[in-house]
Amino acid sequence: MKITVFGVRPDERQHLERWAQQRGDELVQTTALLTPDSVAKAAGSTGISCFQTVPYEAGVFKAMRKLGIKALALRNTGTDNVDFDAAQHYGIRITNVPAYSPNAIAEFALADMLYLLRQTGLVQRDLQQDHYRQATTHIGRELRCSTVGVIGTGRIGRSLISSLNGIGAKVLAYDPHPQADCQLHFESVTLQTLLRQSDIVTLHIPGTPSNTHLIDQAAIAEMKPGALLINTGRPNLVDTTAVIAALRSGQLGGVGIDTFEHETEDLLALAEAGQFVDPQWQSLLAMPNVILSPHIAYYTETAVRNMCETAMQALHDLAERQASDCEVFPDQR
Ligand code: NAD
Ligand code: COI
Repeated sequence: MKITVFGVRPDERQHLERWAQQRGDELVQTTALLTPDSVAKAAGSTGISCFQTVPYEAGVFKAMRKLGIKALALRNTGTDNVDFDAAQHYGIRITNVPAYSPNAIAEFALADMLYLLRQTGLVQRDLQQDHYRQATTHIGRELRCSTVGVIGTGRIGRSLISSLNGIGAKVLAYDPHPQADCQLHFESVTLQTLLRQSDIVTLHIPGTPSNTHLIDQAAIAEMKPGALLINTGRPNLVDTTAVIAALRSGQLGGVGIDTFEHETEDLLALAEAGQFVDPQWQSLLAMPNVILSPHIAYYTETAVRNMCETAMQALHDLAERQASDCEVFPDQR
């Protein structure tokens, strides 16, 4: 079958090409993002695979229908950028990769925690300014002696808890739909208790509308003074204005952000103008007790291979047996 893959990065090519060769697929690869205009590149395809953090809007699905393409396989987990009503309206089935490597994101959150606990940003800043002695004065805190509040105990949250158990940190967790897991050690608490008692709060929940600004000014005020906040979840989970104010007042001791609130607008500006101007991004970037990353917590060799292979398999499953374990239904999000 013919598959067109959008948003292809160099590190994905080997996996996509190996797959296509094994299955005898005709593979079209493009670095272009999937937009109403670029869909035309997929003419004659049975399915499309895509990877992007900018939205999949109605126009994309309308254009797919016109070309007779009925399946879109995302090579990632989150589906908050998909207009499912429009997809359903135009008869397009969507699959994702529910668990390409929960460990990748969990380890990234852990790395942010350690960076902040050991004040690595301050040490680096002092060294870069030639203040060697000053750089030796930033006393760290140990993760093993910290209480970590994990919001969301799904695949990624549980992977993180497993690592935290190994390190010996105390773990509090909040999830309205907890899954039993006797291998892990943590205390299930209310959100308020988690916020009040944690030295570090880390987010591992989807970016559903109801989760927007779960961490706002009021939530931050509940946190321990000087607590750390990590967001590798989704851009909408955290009110950045409140975070910047809390960093300035010292209510937050440090922040790790992989999923920045305005990433979509900034990425669109980057694509159009080659740069973006975002005062909040600049403010955060200038703070040594903030670690920013461009939505790369997922980005490991293991994850990329699994993302490519699972997405291609999903397109085959939809075409060959009209069903895929990875299909995302609007009411299940
Ligand atoms: P999952 O579906 O396995 O688990 C999500 C959990 O969050 C569920 O148990 C759910 O009950 C819980 N939840 C939902 N709303 C909540 C709330 N308000 N408070 C507490 N718990 C809540 O998902 P996962 O695989 O663990 O992934 C979690 C999120 O991580 C994804 O939805 C995605 O947004 C994000 N993610 C980020 C990256 C990255 O590169 N930064 C990569 C993959 C996934
Ligand atoms: C996901 O898989 O949901 C991610 O957040 C990774 C991504 C860069 C889209």
